[in-house]
Amino acid sequence: MKAITVEPKKPGTARFEDFPEPDALEGPVLVEAVAVGVCGTDVEIVEGKYGWAPPGQKRLVLGHESLGRVIDPGPSSGLKQGDLVVGIVRRPDPVPCPNCAVGEWDMCRNGLYTERGIKEIHGFMSERWRIEPEYAVKVDPSLGILGVLLEPTTVVTKALEQVAAIGRRSFWEPRTVLVTGAGPIGLLAALSVKLYGLEVHVLDRVETGTKPDLVRALGATYHSGSVADIGFEPDAIIECTGVGQVISDSIQKIGANGIVCLTGVGHGGVVTSAALADVAAAAVLRNNVIVGSVNANKRHWYRAGQTLARADRSWLAKLITRREKPENFLGALERKPDDIKVVIQFSGV
Ligand code: BGC
Repeated sequence: MKAITVEPKKPGTARFEDFPEPDALEGPVLVEAVAVGVCGTDVEIVEGKYGWAPPGQKRLVLGHESLGRVIDPGPSSGLKQGDLVVGIVRRPDPVPCPNCAVGEWDMCRNGLYTERGIKEIHGFMSERWRIEPEYAVKVDPSLGILGVLLEPTTVVTKALEQVAAIGRRSFWEPRTVLVTGAGPIGLLAALSVKLYGLEVHVLDRVETGTKPDLVRALGATYHSGSVADIGFEPDAIIECTGVGQVISDSIQKIGANGIVCLTGVGHGGVVTSAALADVAAAAVLRNNVIVGSVNANKRHWYRAGQTLARADRSWLAKLITRREKPENFLGALERKPDDIKVVIQFSGV
């Protein structure tokens, strides 16, 4: 079969190439790939900045935002041939640490977790893939290709759960939530917060186009420009850009008792900000919490499925702005100005 593979930590090594059929050890459920979403993590891996091949192997099959159709459900998965499924990304560490031991692999403490298409296990950018039944999530068939949005929705679901859990430390009646960044994570965050019934604001650099339209279609308010200028102090900020200045402004703009949840993974960047001790003092005096959030466990996969099932299909469909063939995976990894979610399509739904 064909797969998109890369030699991690070596830029320029990604190829669409012949690759052995998936190993039976990867699970009894055999799946035909339908589509795989592309995200910043894939770009980082292809640029040689991140990623790990399976132990003893040189190359890693890329892709962690999956959608596939079951070819062979295996002996006891409860799945049927033809079911649409998405694969959970992370596997618990083998020790296991206390969090992995209780199924909270997203909170792994020793870093020995593995991740499909990212860290030591092959991903989903291959014509066929295998999976363990307990890590295959059945997708509402009416979602069709939109099921490929499930993985990024799980990341958002976990982030919002973190914010809600922290909020419960005291009496908290959040009213306004600011989402920074109107990429797929930001827009899915805005959708999820809206479903909670809160007032949602989304900030991004662009002034016109699909992003502001999608925000307004949700009944949320769109802002372009700086967080410092939004004109109110949000109760929670879901930071989805990973950009230093936006992070710094968010920490300084958050309201009293407010929570800033960081979901973006950025690098470097020069920030013009107040002295750190002054920023910290303001956070102390206003009981602020700054929390990082990564990955998702089964509870989040379940809830994310509910979010997508409730969402307006035509709104979700506008998030997928480009579909590329696997042989043009390099084009899929390029960021074009109007891109929101680009998917690599392996077969029809
Ligand atoms: C994925 C997560 C993963 C994280 C770190 C993200 O792009 O969506 O599942 O945990 O990268 O590797």
